[in-house]
Formats: sequence, structure tokens, C-alpha cells
Amino acid sequence: MKQLEVQLGDRSYPIYIGQQLFNDAELLTRHISSNKVMLVTNTLVETLYLKQVKNTLERAGKSVDVTVLPDGESYKTLETLNLIFDGLLQGIHGRDTCIVALGGGVVGDMAGFAASCYQRGVDFIQLPTTLLSQVDSSVGGKTAVNHPLGKNMIGAFYQPKAVYIDIDCLKTLASEQFSAGMAEVIKYGIIWDREFFDWLDSNHQTIVGLDNDAITTMIARCCEIKAEVVSSDEHERGIRALLNLGHTFGHAIESEQGYGSWLHGEAVAAGMVLAAKTSLALGLIESESLVNIQQLISRYQLPINAPSTMNYNSFIKHMVIDKKVIAGKLRFVLPTSIGSAELYSDVTEDLLKQIIECS
Ligand code: GLY
Repeated sequence: MKQLEVQLGDRSYPIYIGQQLFNDAELLTRHISSNKVMLVTNTLVETLYLKQVKNTLERAGKSVDVTVLPDGESYKTLETLNLIFDGLLQGIHGRDTCIVALGGGVVGDMAGFAASCYQRGVDFIQLPTTLLSQVDSSVGGKTAVNHPLGKNMIGAFYQPKAVYIDIDCLKTLASEQFSAGMAEVIKYGIIWDREFFDWLDSNHQTIVGLDNDAITTMIARCCEIKAEVVSSDEHERGIRALLNLGHTFGHAIESEQGYGSWLHGEAVAAGMVLAAKTSLALGLIESESLVNIQQLISRYQLPINAPSTMNYNSFIKHMVIDKKVIAGKLRFVLPTSIGSAELYSDVTEDLLKQIIECS
């Protein structure tokens, strides 16, 4: 098992990465001080891991209530969030309770947001079961629900007490979900680590074959980068924004297509290519870098083009309410090479139109 740390003073927390973590009663309850636990999951993960995790928590003497949410991004709403509050209140959970999020990014974001609000804040723990949540959303304390007018518009920065990444979960993950997670993995290579980008290319076979060593190395490198970034900029006043490469375009695709019809990772993949095309047009990267990015994204079965039905207007109407707008200006994370990126707020309307409509 590997262990990393997100360094945030007295709110620092560990990330454990390994196999069979969900069976380890001592490990799984190491950061839970209460006797009562609210386990939050969804209808799909319920059939796969709920019994195992509930038994493990109960073996350690915890009293476990369960809230099962409907599965999918389209349910990441304030209305669904109430199911968690209903369960907590019906089960008479006090401020000393601990919410355990068992599932992918939607479950983690919603359970985390519920933890940030319930009785003004209770402990929570992340047990991410998808690749995307293991490498990105379970680490760093971004919690939220969507609004019909924008993704993740209602939420809070609220850190978990611990993150447990059991790589055995990837064995039951649908292949399109694995690919969606790879979009966020590739993102780290583009914004931060050229060597890692190249490693993802040369280790493609072992990664898609779910080789334990390759997967552990890959997830650990992503979490290491994320932990470093979050430790130095928890509230995204600077460097953390780089983790949003492809997300400004990607969120517009998700919102326009209807939440859930494009997976988040698929939209981010197409968004990263649009960002790289913008970099090329601004002379920040060579065409060879754009080709390398497109090739790696395609290799992991991800889209490199936005939906053909989307034009400039359908992008812009979502992008103007994106959280990355500051003082009325759109801000884009753009690669400046493979392995580095910067924030740009001077991309002109004409250039944007050309990038979107000529893609
Ligand atoms: N998913 C980007 C971040 O956590 O900042």
C-alpha cells in the first residue's frame, strides 16, 4: 500500500492507495472518531461494494446507516442532495457523525457537500470507486451539485478526513468509465509532467490491462501532483486553476448536451484538444505537441472533437457563467508545452470562434 499526504496544516489528510482496502476494518475506521456513520452510495455501487464496506465498518463497531442515491450526473442536484439530509435526520445523526462517500465523482461531490452543510459541517471520508474519482475528484475538497444553468455551481471547498483508493474497484469499472478517468490522468501529464505523459504512452498495454503495479504507479503520480497543487492553493486563487485544463470547454459540452450524455472525462478530453488548438493558434506550442496530445487521448478511446452540433454560440453561453470567469473575462488554461500550462484571459472572440467552428 502507498500512502501520500495532502498538507493543509491541521486539516491535512492521508490518501491510501492499494488493494483490499475495503476489507481492512482498522484502516477504514482509523480516521472515524464517531460511533455512527452515514454511508452514501448509488444504485450501481450498492450492488458491488456496499455489503463489503458496511460489514467492514460494522466489524469495527460502527453503527451504519445507508443512503442510496440514483446513479448518474443528471442526479447531481439539490433535490437529490436532500436524500442525504433526510437520512441523516431520520437516523438522528448528530454533529459528531461521519459521512462515508462510496462511489464515483457524483457520490463524492454530493456526500462531501452534504458533509459541509449538515449541522454546519461534519466529518467525511472518500472511498472513490471510479478511476476519475480516484485520480481527481476525491482529493482536494471540491464538493458541489449542478444547477440547470451550470455545472458545480452550488458547492463548497470542504476537505475529507482521509481518502481510500482501492484499485480492485477498477476491475468492475465499465471501459468507457475507465477511459473517462484517463482524460484526467492525461491532464496531469500535459499540465505538469512530460515524463509522465510519455510513460502513459509507453505503458498503454499494462495500464489498459489493469496491471496492479502500473495502475498503482499511475494513480499515485496523479494524487502526488494533485496533493502538491492543493496543498499550495486550496481555494484556487492561482496554480490550482491549471487542474481545469479542458474544463471550460468541457463543462460547456456537458451542459449543452445535457448532464450525463457525455461523461465528464469525455468532455474534458475534447476540451483539452480545443485548449491545445488555442495554444497552437497563439504560438504557445508546436503542431507536434498538438498531434501528440491528440494521439494519446485517442489511444485511450477518448474523443478529440466536440459534438458536431455545437457552434461558437452554444459554447459561449455556458462559458460565460463558468466559475473561471473573472472580471467578465473568460480565462483559459492553455498548454505551453507538454508538461506545463498557464492561465490566459486574452483569447479573442474571433480566435475562439475560429477554433470552435473550424475543429
Ligand atoms: N478538479 C480540479 C480541482 O480539484 O481543482
